[in-house]
Amino acid sequence: MENLLSMTDAKEEIFDILNIASRLKSGEIKEKPLVDKYLGMIFEKSSTRTRVSFEVGMNQLGGTPLYLSSNDLQIGRGEPISDTARVLSRFLDCIMIRAKSHETVKELIKYADIPIINGLTDKEHPCQTFADLLTIREYKGDFNRKFVFIGDGNNVCNSLLLGAAYTGMDMTVACPEGYEPDEEIYNLALEEAKQTGAHISIEHDIHKAVENADILYTDVWVSMGDEEEAEERQRVLQEYQINSQLLSEAKPDAIVMHCLPAIRDQEITDEVMTSEQSAIWDQAENRLHAQKAILYNILKD
Ligand code: CP
Ligand code: NVA
Repeated sequence: MENLLSMTDAKEEIFDILNIASRLKSGEIKEKPLVDKYLGMIFEKSSTRTRVSFEVGMNQLGGTPLYLSSNDLQIGRGEPISDTARVLSRFLDCIMIRAKSHETVKELIKYADIPIINGLTDKEHPCQTFADLLTIREYKGDFNRKFVFIGDGNNVCNSLLLGAAYTGMDMTVACPEGYEPDEEIYNLALEEAKQTGAHISIEHDIHKAVENADILYTDVWVSMGDEEEAEERQRVLQEYQINSQLLSEAKPDAIVMHCLPAIRDQEITDEVMTSEQSAIWDQAENRLHAQKAILYNILKD
């Protein structure tokens, strides 16, 4: 992969990257191929998992990560992203950026001559999708499953739609009207799904959506940047909570996933998060293995 802006960049290599992630996790790959490589990690928004998994992962692969908060960089004082891209390309081997706007990452890619990884934008979260697919494969053994994303058709949902289409996994987005995923990405996922046989759909009736589901997935109702709509979102999305009742409507061996951070008693209950059907903590751990596999793919000579 040259850059990872969108899951579309990973289409051809998705299984290779997942396989590397599994081999890194099992200890089969022990090499440290990124010695003398430097990763800049720019954050315009908060992060726990993305920051720590990339920082630890880069170190474990022998490389050096640099945490760069946009508040401390000159970007925060108005230095253009194009100039930042040109200059950082002279110091670093790769940049991972969590940006408020997807356009910022596109701009960085345009002016940088090193690879750029999207660590979450308002449109996509491809790094999360890799960890999620790895987790699903570990729990279920394959992607011949019914995956249901419940709640807001947001950035996490958008990347998962493409991930599902490329891996041939059936995916239903259960959301209220007005909270559907990005139209362009949804249409692309439908198109890609024709190649793999995945069945992709949107369903407003949550009970219908979870029938026969193997995996229930949710994310916060109020993403970073949506805070002004918080009250409205909590009102409209309240039926779309993963709780024990809803979980009992899925297959008996269904698992529950959440990218975290979670708001208990909004999109998910504590009971479900800590139940035997929760894959959430393994999913969080898999951020490390998946992010290492992305770095390995992009940076290994
Ligand atoms: N899931 C995820 O990206 O978590 P952080 O916001 O903590 O990085
Ligand atoms: N959809 C959430 C994901 C956080 C990891 C957000 O963008 O805030």
